[in-house]
Amino acid sequence: MNDKDVILSVRNLQTHLRTRRGVVKAVDGVSFDVRRGETLGIVGESGSGKSMTAFSIVQLLPRVGRVVGGEVIFNGEDLLKKSPREMEKVRGKHVSMVLQDPLTSLNPVFRTGDQIAETIRHHLKDAPDPKGKAVELMRQVRIPAPATAYRYYPHQMSGGMRQRVLGAIGVSCEPEFLIADEPTSALDPTIQAQYLDLLKDLQKQYNLTIIFITHDFGIVATICDTVAVMYAGKIVETGPVRDVFQRPSHPYTEALLKSLPSLEEKPKRLPSISGQPPMPHEMPTGCRFAPRCPYKFDKCEEYPPDTHVSPTHISACWRSVK
Ligand SMILES: Nc1ncnc2c1ncn2[C@@H]1O[C@H](COP(=O)(O)OP(=O)(O)OP(=O)(O)O)[C@@H](O)[C@H]1O
Ligand SMILES: [Mg+2]
Repeated sequence: MNDKDVILSVRNLQTHLRTRRGVVKAVDGVSFDVRRGETLGIVGESGSGKSMTAFSIVQLLPRVGRVVGGEVIFNGEDLLKKSPREMEKVRGKHVSMVLQDPLTSLNPVFRTGDQIAETIRHHLKDAPDPKGKAVELMRQVRIPAPATAYRYYPHQMSGGMRQRVLGAIGVSCEPEFLIADEPTSALDPTIQAQYLDLLKDLQKQYNLTIIFITHDFGIVATICDTVAVMYAGKIVETGPVRDVFQRPSHPYTEALLKSLPSLEEKPKRLPSISGQPPMPHEMPTGCRFAPRCPYKFDKCEEYPPDTHVSPTHISACWRSVK
């Protein structure tokens, strides 16, 4: 796609992990575009490759992981061609990531405020008053009494507060792009809703582009503009949230949405559908969803091509091929 608004274009991304049971193709030919200022939701079952896609973009893969193919074009440059030192700059200035678990991402032995100030100092070397800025950021993410909270250690804060601290760290270097990996899964629904509001505010304030990784279709409906549905290392369907939710094209998306009571109700976890995803080191050569698919036919022995069901809505299913 040649669209000047596209800030991130991931093309045929392939990431392998070396495990004792063999090579896992955690990300197996993933492509998508994100436009400036929009929020893309990535949904899919546990193990479908959502986090590995995110870690491949920012090049923070586990030691056993390696990107073996594809392109990650951010603002016109391929991040996969950058050196580790250049990538550190990109992560500090442009692309930030908020992780799944606030307890493991925060260092238990340092005060939370100092951890924010330290990131500011590290990434914005000439920041005049990192401590002051950290307090200001804590205020922005709506931590009550920020000057006092600055001195709290992570364990002295609630889960929701810690998540806010991570949010503050995430935007401390004023990034253009934020990747949030399941940032709300550990939070209760009220705190979760508050955090999503906060994210929207930060998005407006910083003109942030966001990738939001979640199991939760309710969250996708609330804050995302576009959605990519992952299954077994591949994106099976992607498009504007409304189109995908109203007219799902891939049988996997259809099955997931069918088993949801209603999107207007409060956010629901990803529902379970019958059968299991394939084992990661024993992928079928054809469509990976075929063993669970009610519409399976002989064509499905071959992997289906990405097919446009509308100019912006793509599905990888033989039923969409005209
Ligand atoms: N450190 C690791 N070592 C070996 N295999 C891993 C590692 N991390 C992830 N994997 C494997 O890579 C595949 C993709 O995992 P990934 O973490 O991207 O899934 P996910 O979609 O983020 O799942 P979840 O929703 O549970 O976070 C899975 O098969 C997983 O078992
Ligand atoms: Mg994950």
